[in-house]
Amino acid sequence: MLSKQDIEDRILVQEHFAQEHLPQQMGSAEIEQYKSRIRQLLKEKDACLVAHYYTDDLIQQLADETGGCVSDSLEMARFGSRHPASTLIVAGVRFMGETAKILNPEKRILMPTLEATCSLDIGCPADEFSAFCDQYPDHEVVVYANTSAAVKARADWVVTSSIALKVVEHLADQGKKIIWAPDKHLGEYVRKETGAEMILWDGSCIVHEEFKAKGILDLKKVYPDAAVLVHPESPDSVVQIADAVGSTSQLIKAAHDLPNETFIVATDRGIFYKMQQAAPGKRFLEAPTGGSGATCRSCAHCPWMAMNGLDNIVAALEHGADEIHVDAELARRALKPLQRMLDFSAS
Ligand code: 13P
Ligand code: SF4
Repeated sequence: MLSKQDIEDRILVQEHFAQEHLPQQMGSAEIEQYKSRIRQLLKEKDACLVAHYYTDDLIQQLADETGGCVSDSLEMARFGSRHPASTLIVAGVRFMGETAKILNPEKRILMPTLEATCSLDIGCPADEFSAFCDQYPDHEVVVYANTSAAVKARADWVVTSSIALKVVEHLADQGKKIIWAPDKHLGEYVRKETGAEMILWDGSCIVHEEFKAKGILDLKKVYPDAAVLVHPESPDSVVQIADAVGSTSQLIKAAHDLPNETFIVATDRGIFYKMQQAAPGKRFLEAPTGGSGATCRSCAHCPWMAMNGLDNIVAALEHGADEIHVDAELARRALKPLQRMLDFSAS
């Protein structure tokens, strides 16, 4: 069994690895060459680019321009399943590629790099999680999409932050008690909002955990009319001072819908690209984090999302490298709670 310390060490190692394997910086001529090569390869390989809001602006732009999709993790899953392409290239982190494969076993799922992981996924090893669940046999197991296929296979429900409140409300209405994993902050938020009886796994997102209520309140003194937008993977003290709390797509909607001209945004700064499009003319400020240190933990940008680049998209499409494979039996079991989420979201 892994100890809490072993898990934290794993996260640190993966985080350093990510920082040392960032895509190369390119000049504008080179960017154009890569973009046109990707457009050509997507056609040749019958492929479609599905990107998360936290990836580089250039990747989001390409996904839009080539008929792919830029979205939150729920919509990425839905879009990939509906699209007729035989290959999906998933720009994001590994659980997003695995989700695509579980939902579409007949498709080839490529990622710019399979090393793009997530601290929530690393922080919830399947064996430890399964033993944890065994202690509460009368609880419904609800896991966040940011988990491995093996953890999903142990769950009754998978949820993303877009749909977590609704699913848990639905279960609480039936008097169900819930095991929630892995994000304790999102779990705490859902527990408070729904009043459900929940036992929480102790995991967190290294990016959102760094946002600080004090820093945000200090920034509000400079911009008193700013609204605060918060992803619920952030600590409770930050959620409490939010004007809107929600998934990435819900925050983009809030930026459009709220009357404010200025926003302090407590989520990965990759989201600014789409926020700016949704609310042109408005101003978006990064919520302050742990300080001015040199680590990715204080830069409001996920080190693993940052591993996605134009160069490794080309490599994946050209050579079929970094293809996602999920054990067939695991995939069969993980499909059930995933499909349940999609069916619930469609109902
Ligand atoms: P969304 O489901 O809101 O896109 O969040 C995914 C994620 O990894 C946030 O850190
Ligand atoms: Fe995981 Fe956090 Fe990165 Fe999202 S931002 S992929 S939760 S580490």
